[in-house]
Amino acid sequence: MIILITGGAGFIGLNLSARLLRLGHEVTSLDNYITSDKNNISALKNEPGFKFFETDIINPLPNHVVKVKFDRIYHLACPTGVPNLTVLDSEMALTCSLGTLNILELAKKNGSRLLFTSSSEIYGNPLISPQTENYTGNVDPVGIRAPYEEGKRFAETLVKIYYRKYNLQAKIVRIFNTYGPYMAAGDTRVIPLFFTRCLNGMSLPLHGDGNQKRTFLYIDDLIEGLLTVMEKGGAGEVYNLGNHHSVTIFHLAEKILKLTGNTAGLEKTDRPPHDHQTRMPDLTRISRLGWQPSVSLDEGLQKTFLWLQKQVKT
Ligand SMILES: NC(=O)c1ccc[n+]([C@@H]2O[C@H](COP(=O)([O-])OP(=O)(O)OC[C@H]3O[C@@H](n4cnc5c(N)ncnc54)[C@H](O)[C@@H]3O)[C@@H](O)[C@H]2O)c1
Repeated sequence: MIILITGGAGFIGLNLSARLLRLGHEVTSLDNYITSDKNNISALKNEPGFKFFETDIINPLPNHVVKVKFDRIYHLACPTGVPNLTVLDSEMALTCSLGTLNILELAKKNGSRLLFTSSSEIYGNPLISPQTENYTGNVDPVGIRAPYEEGKRFAETLVKIYYRKYNLQAKIVRIFNTYGPYMAAGDTRVIPLFFTRCLNGMSLPLHGDGNQKRTFLYIDDLIEGLLTVMEKGGAGEVYNLGNHHSVTIFHLAEKILKLTGNTAGLEKTDRPPHDHQTRMPDLTRISRLGWQPSVSLDEGLQKTFLWLQKQVKT
């Protein structure tokens, strides 16, 4: 198949591209490098069947992309990272809105099947746990997190409009925290941040008492989930994709300190007022498609550490 990936130079995009190429597909990848590490794409650039174009999807798409009839489109592009909620706020909002519109138009023109990567952030600060796909969330439309949370909510609405109005075979996946190899060196999400600090012998910042709970999905399980939803998921449907084992940030930090042998310890910092206390996906719907997570947190952290160590050495 001929497949387009937006946000293809990012953490998930690179892992997804590598997997699709191994399956024998042709992959075209678009990215403007706004939150990715430019060096990481070099691992794929010479692979047969792989094409990369530096493109900002907010702008009209280039001709060499528009003229291709893609069978599948994985629409991943979006700036990520909590510090970027204020630094790249308009880029988040515009990529989710104008960028998503451009990609939906392309999919509509060619009758491509499309998967949009939304986020558990659309649930905001949830008042129920676990969160099912029917839960409508608790989001502040003018809060600090709104460019991402509301951006993703608006993009979901747009995807659903294209499904209802044009019968676009589109699926939405709400991803919960995911980690693994190919996270950018400067990625500020908690697992790469903790590992990078440990590899530099630095202490780990703990927001408040560290009792916030999160679930973490290893990248290989996530990629399997994306492929499953793309091929077997219902058109117009929404699927949570994550892990149901939760861990406090305190315990996560302890695990990473032990794994890396870092003795610098923890450093308590103020907790941002918009930090959510808990996130927990209800995975009933996606498990009906035959998917479930298989990599434990200990195994996934070990694999991520080995990869990051190699990056630091080379
Ligand atoms: N990794 C997670 O835990 C997680 C959780 C929830 C949702 N998601 C979603 O999954 C998708 C991929 O996330 P990721 O973890 O790989 O993050 P990432 O930041 O590594 O990748 C996103 C990519 O999109 C690119 N991008 C951003 N705006 C763009 C634009 N206007 N035009 C072209 N490219 C653009 C970035 O440069 C980056 O390479 C994102 O939509 C993200 O919101 C990820």
